[in-house]
Amino acid sequence: MQTDAGLVKVALLGTGDIATRHAAALKVVPGVELRSVCDLSLLKAKAFSKTFGVKGIYNSIDDLLDSQTIDVVHVLTDPGSHGPLAVRCIEGGADAFIEKPLAVSMKQCEELAQKSRAYGRLCAVNHQWVHSPVIQHLMREIQSFKFGGLRHVHMIFSVPAAHLRLLRPDHFIFNDSRNLFFEFGPHPFSLINLLLGRVRSAETSASGEIELMGQSLSDLWQTSLVCERGTASLTMNIGKTTRNITLDVIGEDAAAHIDLVRQSMEIRDPESEVVPGRLRSVLRRSHRDVSDALADLFHHYRSTLNSSKVLPHDPFQASLLDFYSARKAGRSPRQDIATGAAVVEYCEEAVANVRFSSRQARVVSYAG
Ligand SMILES: NC(=O)c1ccc[n+]([C@@H]2O[C@H](COP(=O)([O-])OP(=O)(O)OC[C@H]3O[C@@H](n4cnc5c(N)ncnc54)[C@H](O)[C@@H]3O)[C@@H](O)[C@H]2O)c1
Repeated sequence: MQTDAGLVKVALLGTGDIATRHAAALKVVPGVELRSVCDLSLLKAKAFSKTFGVKGIYNSIDDLLDSQTIDVVHVLTDPGSHGPLAVRCIEGGADAFIEKPLAVSMKQCEELAQKSRAYGRLCAVNHQWVHSPVIQHLMREIQSFKFGGLRHVHMIFSVPAAHLRLLRPDHFIFNDSRNLFFEFGPHPFSLINLLLGRVRSAETSASGEIELMGQSLSDLWQTSLVCERGTASLTMNIGKTTRNITLDVIGEDAAAHIDLVRQSMEIRDPESEVVPGRLRSVLRRSHRDVSDALADLFHHYRSTLNSSKVLPHDPFQASLLDFYSARKAGRSPRQDIATGAAVVEYCEEAVANVRFSSRQARVVSYAG
């Protein structure tokens, strides 16, 4: 799959916020070269190419794909355009690494899967939280039967998302409040899907109201889910809040509290209740305090770090590495089309019937 020069030629489609993280992470992937960038705004593409020293600059996907051989395109545009643009990449002869969500409907996911099969092209989605060290640790404990059967997962996904105020008024999320689920939902749903399998049904209620770009959006969403292997609940708070991303996993034999921001996990099982003693709880508390302090320090200085530096065990980096190593080995990436589609199904189910309990209570069917 490598090119004549032995390097995989990569292009970024969309040079907005997230493109910077992709360009930085690519620097650490062996055997790849960021060859071109493409954005509808040529000005943006030019400014980006200057920062990262990229030679090819385009403002149309057709020109990008027609002008040269590109092996992989990272699709980094707004969620509503992922499906159609990824299909265009596949038809143009390139593999696609797509930012979350894979697409915004199951219909688009099916078309993508069909095209990927027909053209023999690889497609994957960036669900980076799945690659977090703490989630890898949790999965090892689950596989060693520490928890017995899983019964319930509760996730809090609370992020300030200050960047929403910088988006253009015609951005995808301002078309409909429920589009927030396609923008943010893939983060928690990729984890719930990993733990409990596909969604069977969901009910969501929305409350709170924020004004953005003259639009009123609900900022607090609570979803109850029935999944293949247990039940789940998600509290999603986007807007005026602090960053808090936690997961409580309840199994037959043990339970765990996971803090994804701090990458910490506390497991409770009958054994740990018998053994602990005072020393054990003091050690556990100090360990938590030290990791909290280090995590705070990291987040405080993160923005001042050179963007080309990628930290070890960075889930974002791990997600790209998995895609490129799978491509090289001819195996399926962990977050493949089927997994991406399962997460889109979660988003679709979550917004299918939403009960709004803000100023003007209303019950809306997304399909209608
Ligand atoms: N994984 C993460 O943690 C994470 C974080 C932020 C955003 N994202 C995802 O990344 C994607 C992009 O988000 P963003 O914040 O960078 O958005 P953005 O609005 O900052 O950038 C998107 C860019 O795509 C360009 N674009 C749109 N349509 C195009 C087309 N047809 N051809 C070429 N360029 C086109 C726009 O001009 C814009 O510059 C979204 O799907 C978002 O959900 C992921």
